[in-house]
Amino acid sequence: MSARNSKMKKGFFISFEGGEGTGKSTQVRLLANKLTERGSLVHITREPGGTELSEKIRNILKTSSNVDPITEMLLMFAARREHFIKSIYPLLKQGYVIICDRFYDSSLVYQGILKNIPIEQIMQLKEITLKSFEPDFTVILDLPPSIAKERIQHRQLYLDDYDMMSENEYNIIRNGFRKISEAFPFRCKIINASGDEKKVSSRVYKAVKRFIPEIEGRPL
Ligand code: TMP
Repeated sequence: MSARNSKMKKGFFISFEGGEGTGKSTQVRLLANKLTERGSLVHITREPGGTELSEKIRNILKTSSNVDPITEMLLMFAARREHFIKSIYPLLKQGYVIICDRFYDSSLVYQGILKNIPIEQIMQLKEITLKSFEPDFTVILDLPPSIAKERIQHRQLYLDDYDMMSENEYNIIRNGFRKISEAFPFRCKIINASGDEKKVSSRVYKAVKRFIPEIEGRPL
């Protein structure tokens, strides 16, 4: 059951996925601006994060080194459950378009494909924390790792464990998200993230309208 078909809500949930340096936060902001201009009520959020407790968990994860993969997975899903129950679910019921920088596909790729936790175990946690909830649409931003790494090194003074991954790991993550789009073709679209941010944004917008035609001009 997709979130769109669920009776629980009137809004839409769009997630952005992709490796580090692919421009997710910029594209989240640009899409939010476009949808707001067209009259939608938009809420931007991110994972891990999105509530007070989930942001504390994010901070722990971002400032710790060598976290055990299972501990990391449990913390990601603890943050996600809190985010879903306290923020995502109530806002969807109110009719918001929620745009989320990463969601559970990131757990499938980082904890599953990159760190070798069995996918079934991750899906069990997904079932416990989110039940059958799925994004209405998932944008997967795709960029060659060499370009992504360069962007990150220019952008930040302080690089955490997540930013310091090798080019090989970046490749595993990129291919991982490609596998996600094959596994969930009804809600995922890979978008070429190279080039000018405005060009990428119009690719994203076109895809959003194709997957959720009702998103534009609907009275909220
Ligand atoms: P970012 O949101 O600033 O990109 O950083 C979050 C980091 O956490 C990023 O490297 C991806 C990672 N992550 C996971 O490993 N699993 C998850 O479920 C999520 C949401 C993020």
